[in-house]
Amino acid sequence: MQFFSPLFLLILIAAVLHHSTARPLPPSAASTSYPKQALPHKSGYLTVNSTSGSAIYYTYYEAHKNTPKISLNTPILIWLEGGGPSFGCASMTANYFQIGPWILNQNLSLEPNPGPWNNIFGLLFLDNPIGTGFSIAASPQEIPRNQNDVAKHLYIAIKKFIALDESFKTRPIYITGESYAGKYIPAIGYYILKKNTYLSNDSRLNLAGVAIGNALVDPGIQLATYAVNAYNLFLIDEKQKALLDDLQFEALQCIKSGNWDEATNARNRVLDTLTHMTGLATLLDCRRLIPYQYNSAVDKFLNNVEIKRVLGVNESLVFEVCSDTVADALKEDVMKSVRYMVEFLVEKSVKVLLYQGQSDLRDGVVSTLAWVKKMKWEGLERFLKAERKVWRVDGKLAGYVQKSGSLSNVVVMNAGHLVPSDQHVNSQVMIQDWVLERELFAGEMNEDITNDFELPPTMY
Ligand SMILES: *[C@@H]1O[C@H](CO)[C@@H](O)[C@H](O)[C@H]1NC(C)=O
Ligand SMILES: *[C@@H]1O[C@H](CO)[C@@H](O)[C@H](O)[C@H]1NC(C)=O
Ligand SMILES: *[C@@H]1O[C@H](CO)[C@@H](O)[C@H](O)[C@H]1NC(C)=O
Ligand SMILES: *[C@@H]1O[C@H](CO)[C@@H](O)[C@H](O)[C@H]1NC(C)=O
Repeated sequence: MQFFSPLFLLILIAAVLHHSTARPLPPSAASTSYPKQALPHKSGYLTVNSTSGSAIYYTYYEAHKNTPKISLNTPILIWLEGGGPSFGCASMTANYFQIGPWILNQNLSLEPNPGPWNNIFGLLFLDNPIGTGFSIAASPQEIPRNQNDVAKHLYIAIKKFIALDESFKTRPIYITGESYAGKYIPAIGYYILKKNTYLSNDSRLNLAGVAIGNALVDPGIQLATYAVNAYNLFLIDEKQKALLDDLQFEALQCIKSGNWDEATNARNRVLDTLTHMTGLATLLDCRRLIPYQYNSAVDKFLNNVEIKRVLGVNESLVFEVCSDTVADALKEDVMKSVRYMVEFLVEKSVKVLLYQGQSDLRDGVVSTLAWVKKMKWEGLERFLKAERKVWRVDGKLAGYVQKSGSLSNVVVMNAGHLVPSDQHVNSQVMIQDWVLERELFAGEMNEDITNDFELPPTMY
């Protein structure tokens, strides 16, 4: 560790420099305009604490193909952004970079997304938790510090959203998102189910499923996969693997002793070291020569006074792609597991979709499988033995789908951590087929087990 301090100092200095040069944002996008047809159907605030005024900002797009004839069965997808390079990131970024009907190009104009997720479903973005994006935290003390508090606020926000329109009441709700939202999604799903047991049918939320992309769910288990995964991809050698294994072990010890703050630091050391060793531009996608390019475009666009006015946001609010204040508030939460909440959802037959971009080295395929294998769920063995089917879109290889009972797992080809931005169309096909239980997600999958053999222990 001592050995690495100068490196980390450098990284820190670089990060600070980057921050201070990126921060002052004279919104130069004076010419930026918002095409009328791109406007969300609804946007504004859902107050989560009427005493203090803290509120979650939302943007809602109705199902495009069905407008204006929405049926009472048309699902509503809710997207929660988690992290990415940092924690406490705004869902509005996913709106304009990944799954919304209109996405930003590099010269800050909106163009139609080739694979919007609101094609046949309503799509709701919530800047969560309070303090992220355009959401308002009346005081830093009110920003949630654990998943139960995150869920409490989300629950209030979702209830208030549903109350905005009589037709929302019966529509099935799917909670989706990625990265650190692997904590938020199970937490709100779990909270809704628990809450529903005390409520009359009339006031229950109609939770139908959760979709979790490239996520942190059980950080202790996932942590242990970085070294072996990078080694098997020929990105590090044995000596480097041993060093990383040691760093991983240190982080694990912090978890075991309940030193949550230090556990988060220790995980960051693992990720920084891996980045340094491999020389990769980003762990979010090992194919990339430069990192994902969205921060500055979304930042500039949403800090434009005109755009804020159109979206119903007070122009004095500064939009940040990721909030350091929120990341700090949740620092002791980062390394805590929510696997038991996913187990609960699967047990209760809420549909659960896990998906990972094949090239993500942060919370990718191997990392996800590691915690799935540890699930306490009576259907687990059947799931692990279920055939992994080849998934094609328009005849082209798109990935692999494995499904049993209420759990599905998808590996998405040619994608990194931010799957929908790498595969707009295929991710749309995936989410639609999964929600509607068609194609590879139809019914119970073929129970003939064809790949029931042991893999060598070091490979995956
Ligand atoms: C609501 O805000 C008040 C005043 O800041 C605070 O005391 C209270 O804890 C908050 N409640 C929740 C549920 O966040
Ligand atoms: C920038 O906008 C122009 C139209 O104003 C468009 O032709 C061009 O392709 C855009 N550039 C990028 C990188 O999207
Ligand atoms: C409440 O829901 C349950 C199961 O979904 C159903 O069996 C029951 O008939 C419903 N009760 C009313 C009053 O709608
Ligand atoms: C915007 O926020 C500022 C500072 O909180 C407040 O003084 C002002 O009244 C707000 N403007 C509107 C239109 O809500």
